[in-house]
Amino acid sequence: MALIVLAADKGAPGVTTAATALGAVWPRAVLLAECDPSGGDLAYRLPADDGSVLNPGRGLLSLGAVARRGLHAELIYEHTQRLVGGLDVLAGLTNGEQAAGLTWLWGPLGRAFAALPQADVLADCGRLGLHPQIGDLVAEADQVVLFTRASLDHVAHLRERLSLIGRKVGIVVIADPRSYRSSLEEIRRIVSGWDVAFVGGLAYDPKGAELLRGRWGGRLDRSLLIRTARELATRLAAQLAEGGEGGETAAPPAAGRAKRRPEVRS
Ligand SMILES: Nc1ncnc2c1ncn2[C@@H]1O[C@H](COP(=O)(O)OP(=O)(O)OP(=O)(O)O)[C@@H](O)[C@H]1O
Ligand SMILES: [Mg+2]
Repeated sequence: MALIVLAADKGAPGVTTAATALGAVWPRAVLLAECDPSGGDLAYRLPADDGSVLNPGRGLLSLGAVARRGLHAELIYEHTQRLVGGLDVLAGLTNGEQAAGLTWLWGPLGRAFAALPQADVLADCGRLGLHPQIGDLVAEADQVVLFTRASLDHVAHLRERLSLIGRKVGIVVIADPRSYRSSLEEIRRIVSGWDVAFVGGLAYDPKGAELLRGRWGGRLDRSLLIRTARELATRLAAQLAEGGEGGETAAPPAAGRAKRRPEVRS
């Protein structure tokens, strides 16, 4: 189906948190792949669906060890695990040094993800500048989404990054709910002359982010983070289904209880 690359230019704006939130509410079948060359975090953040700890040794590294023989969907799923709530994940590297031996993998992995017949792939690629080889995977994406906090210094760095990526990307601003609409408008104004696919938003929500570092819970479903993630996921998936590159996600966090719990994914 589609490969969606999620990444940042600098800092740690919340890519992994956003990837987890989007995976939890993604409206189509989905695989969350931790492709950050600096290492993954999910195995240390969330339990497996049987309550045990995720095996950090099963994932991108174990896949990379056998992938030279050819990457196909069945092989990829031999190295995935299931999070509590039912989200399939390909756990990331356990340290950045492992990426040194896997530079050849990113291109073939990107092609295999994009051709996966049964699911979209959300690939958390971390900070793009640190490991330029990840560009081979980014090049295969149907959509590239860069996350940023709503400050001018963070956004200013994106301009350089966009020219280096050399293709249209979406920008998602992690914004304080109290100034959500104005933050997004401000960022839209700043990037208006740039060639971006869309500017969307995700709530800055420390409590929601903490829930994504622990066990899934009912309150997570009501968090602003999940509610804004659902809106972003719905729009991204709709655009991908139409063959586009993303759409505007201008609405502020909606009031009221979200309809679907992350736990119900299967
Ligand atoms: N939407 C959010 N609202 C509030 N806090 C957040 C949000 N997203 C992430 N955080 C917090 O910011 C910190 C970094 O989050 P996360 O690990 O998702 O960032 P990252 O961009 O993936 O960083 P890295 O580059 O280190 O992988 C964590 O403490 C997390 O709880
Ligand atoms: Mg991360």
